[in-house]
Amino acid sequence: MKTLTKTTLFIGTIFLFLLGCNTSENKKNNATTDTAFHAKVDSLMGLMTLQEKVGQMVMYSGSGAITGPTVNTNFRTYIKEANVGAMLNVYSAKATRDLQKLAVEETRLGIPLLFGYDVIHGFKTIFPINLGLAASWDLDDIEKGSRIAAEEASAVGIHWTFAPMVDIARDPRWGRISEGMGEDVYLASKITKAYVRGFQGDDLSKTNTILACAKHFVGYGAAQAGRDYHTVNMGEEELRNVYLPPFKAAVDEGVETFMTAFNEINGVPATANTYIFKDILRDEWGFNGFVVTDYTAINELVDHGFAKDEKHATKLAIEAGIDQDMMSSANRLYLEELVNEGEVDVELVNEACRRILLAKFKLGLFDDPYKYCDEQREKETIYKPEFLEAARHSAAISSVLLKNDDKALPLTSEKTIALIGPLAKDKENILGNWGAAGDRRGKAISVHQGIQEYVNDAKINYAKGCEIEGDDESGFNEAINVAKKSDIVVMVMGEDYDMSGEAASRTNIKIPGSQTKLIKRIREAVPNKKIVLVLMNGRPLDLSEEDTLADAILETWFPGTMGGNGVADVLFGKHNPSGKLTVTFPRNLGQVPIYYNMKNTGRPIPANNPKEDYKSNYLDVPNTPLYPFGHGLSYTTFEYSNFKLSAETTGFSDTLTAMATITNTGDYDGHEVVQLYVHDKVGSITRPVKELKGFEKIFLKKGESKTVSFDLSVEDLKFYNSEMKFTVEPGEFEIAIKGTSDFDFEHAFTLE
Ligand code: BGC
Repeated sequence: MKTLTKTTLFIGTIFLFLLGCNTSENKKNNATTDTAFHAKVDSLMGLMTLQEKVGQMVMYSGSGAITGPTVNTNFRTYIKEANVGAMLNVYSAKATRDLQKLAVEETRLGIPLLFGYDVIHGFKTIFPINLGLAASWDLDDIEKGSRIAAEEASAVGIHWTFAPMVDIARDPRWGRISEGMGEDVYLASKITKAYVRGFQGDDLSKTNTILACAKHFVGYGAAQAGRDYHTVNMGEEELRNVYLPPFKAAVDEGVETFMTAFNEINGVPATANTYIFKDILRDEWGFNGFVVTDYTAINELVDHGFAKDEKHATKLAIEAGIDQDMMSSANRLYLEELVNEGEVDVELVNEACRRILLAKFKLGLFDDPYKYCDEQREKETIYKPEFLEAARHSAAISSVLLKNDDKALPLTSEKTIALIGPLAKDKENILGNWGAAGDRRGKAISVHQGIQEYVNDAKINYAKGCEIEGDDESGFNEAINVAKKSDIVVMVMGEDYDMSGEAASRTNIKIPGSQTKLIKRIREAVPNKKIVLVLMNGRPLDLSEEDTLADAILETWFPGTMGGNGVADVLFGKHNPSGKLTVTFPRNLGQVPIYYNMKNTGRPIPANNPKEDYKSNYLDVPNTPLYPFGHGLSYTTFEYSNFKLSAETTGFSDTLTAMATITNTGDYDGHEVVQLYVHDKVGSITRPVKELKGFEKIFLKKGESKTVSFDLSVEDLKFYNSEMKFTVEPGEFEIAIKGTSDFDFEHAFTLE
């Protein structure tokens, strides 16, 4: 560390005071604010030593899981030495204030720390896991949920969430499929924007907004064989048309930060990938926020076989455009030395430091570094009744009714219920993975408690039956007896919360343990009683067997703090289910990867003979999934009619309108997610057999009809063509408005 005179120290302190005082004058418009911030950043940087600049590029964890090769617990010392710019896994108004004090009062320039945390689907009030939230297709609700998460997180000193995870995922083996939005590019891009709006709000300097982070750039969801952290190989076409668009949507929505992915992509680890960070993110997209690595990802460049040692890895990461090092200690140990040796251009350090400081200015941390550390606000904000109510609503609208034979659901309060299964009284798994600071015990509402709101205890006959995992059958008899003495059987089953999420890949995507065996035994024991299967899980499961055993299946994902209430609202018909899958449920693991927007192949199966020889099919199962993308039933029925196009031929500057009438033909009021699909029949790069291009969630009273229309312009038909240009090509397009992706096209238009 360089020695500095007392006078410099004094000047620095006065200067920082002035920086803070002026900030509020500049909030009138963003452009002015940004320019003013840039000037302030530059002045501040004029006072900083190289070591202090590098310090901004370092992040340490205060606690939490140790998941990578290097962990350093000396963070307090490093903060005091101005060697740390950000912390993760520290929260509470008090804890963040204590650490912030070290940075502000015990370092020469008093630059405040940034506190980051994985606020993934709620902070204290936990919402359904992200894959579940996506199934609501309700952008306003998703935005509202992330707004609430930001309210709670910011009230405990957090400035920055490592969310949303916008990785497209089409492999249910991969545990992190639960953290994303599913398999579709269009829907994921819309949802990404909703999350970013929710977290960042309209003004980052407000105390209830936090920085968002688009992660993991890029391709993480395509890990080979669904094994976490595994290799990714993909062509430019797939990268640009499938994996990049949600990240681009995040940039368009003004996301402030990006996180690198753990995987390599086409031989180059993402954390040292100049092509994706410099060429695409910065140069093509003009992203000017900052990039953080994933946890110890710089160290891991050595294990990847891409860097010869950690010093080399440090050089490769900064040269690829990575600004902040999460947990590797690489920047702290080697960056200054690399610059002094002439191995790394000092301008790269200046740029990175500038971007990080800019974020701190935007948050207003130079106005008041403790503005997020207000214990009174913390008390008043956490678990507000309206937050809990919102979480209950999200749990209800995220649930997907996969099957409902003979109107097994909704339940009525007159019948006695056999409530069976390891998750029926569960209050821990129900929060799902990345439960953030959500209380694993005590706070969450179980399905049993939710049901108790609708029927009195005398009508609930409970038996656990079995555990989530293992082959113990000792509870089977009790469960069978309970089923025998009740009118209807409700079984709450699924995965343990940590069977999905990070480092939680599975090669078997069936319901674990002896649970399915128990369903079978109960089916045999009460062949004429209705069995309702309520599922909690973090990935698409192979439900082929359960589909033949249960009368109704309700997929509730992990529904969060108020999960039991939200799920009971659906079971008893207070909320008519309206969720639709955003990810395909295969018939078995052998079909994976399987997703609705596949390519046609040169040998597609004929509609009238799917088993035809020498066609692209399987000998043992059909090509179709068990439950397709876009599928989800309601207690009512919807009929689609009167499909119309404003023209059969359209020009490049025209807007085409497609419309259809949707009628509620059943016995309940309800919501329907109306979906617009297009098929570009011929392309210089072959196009998927179907692509979602629009959707609207509507409410129809029973008997009511509505006409829904979608406007399509050439912008909506663009894709990266054979020259990797984002463009549209003339020709014929098929088009449809439906309530699922499982249909055959009947209409078309021509683009001239
Ligand atoms: C995960 C990230 C997460 C980070 C910080 C990593 O292991 O991959 O998604 O944000 O840890 O907790």
